[in-house]
Amino acid sequence: MFTIPDELIAVGKKRMEGHAVQGFVRSYGNPQPKLLLVGEAPGENEIATGIPFIGRAGTELMKSLESIGLTRDDVYMTSTVRSRPYKWGTKKERDGTIVKRTYNRAPKTSEILAHAPLLDYEIHYLQPLLVVTLGTIGLQRLLGKSAKVTEIHGQKIYRPIQYLHNFEDSHYTLTSKSFVIVPTFHPASVFYRPSLREHVFQDWQKIGQYVKETSS
Ligand code: URA
Repeated sequence: MFTIPDELIAVGKKRMEGHAVQGFVRSYGNPQPKLLLVGEAPGENEIATGIPFIGRAGTELMKSLESIGLTRDDVYMTSTVRSRPYKWGTKKERDGTIVKRTYNRAPKTSEILAHAPLLDYEIHYLQPLLVVTLGTIGLQRLLGKSAKVTEIHGQKIYRPIQYLHNFEDSHYTLTSKSFVIVPTFHPASVFYRPSLREHVFQDWQKIGQYVKETSS
């Protein structure tokens, strides 16, 4: 198993202070992964268990991995941000009472920057043969704001990626080396846009093919 050193996790937590986020999921996985998966941020279930992709989105992701003959143990799963970004809202209980509760939200640019050294470390040390970004947040973290998942999903892109060269900076630098990135939709996207299911399926079939090509 490969994981991030405690000292770097402490740096990430410190950089995130003052933001509306909860908990921390460490991320770990195969030290020689067939794929490195970059998600968005953990949700409630991941924070409760400390395991990435264990909730509803995780179940969808496991089905996609299974469809190409892979399991959780073959890959390394990580996310752009390791803590759960939340916002306050209200919920109506069965008896009609209104209660305050937290909801998941997408991470902000400043939160992505706060945890950038963690993802950079994983990519640098694992040197993955294939990086699959799940959704817009992970894709744009690595390839910049102009990258659109709707335009390039399922494609194999060979390019330098963004990393935070100096922890004090608020802008990214490009790596000198190129990586193979395959963008696809976030596994949760099919819950609010069921028409994406077929695209997600097709993307994963292509990813399966790319895995075969890179390991042969
Ligand atoms: N979405 C992510 O990006 N990561 C998780 O662990 C769960 C949902």
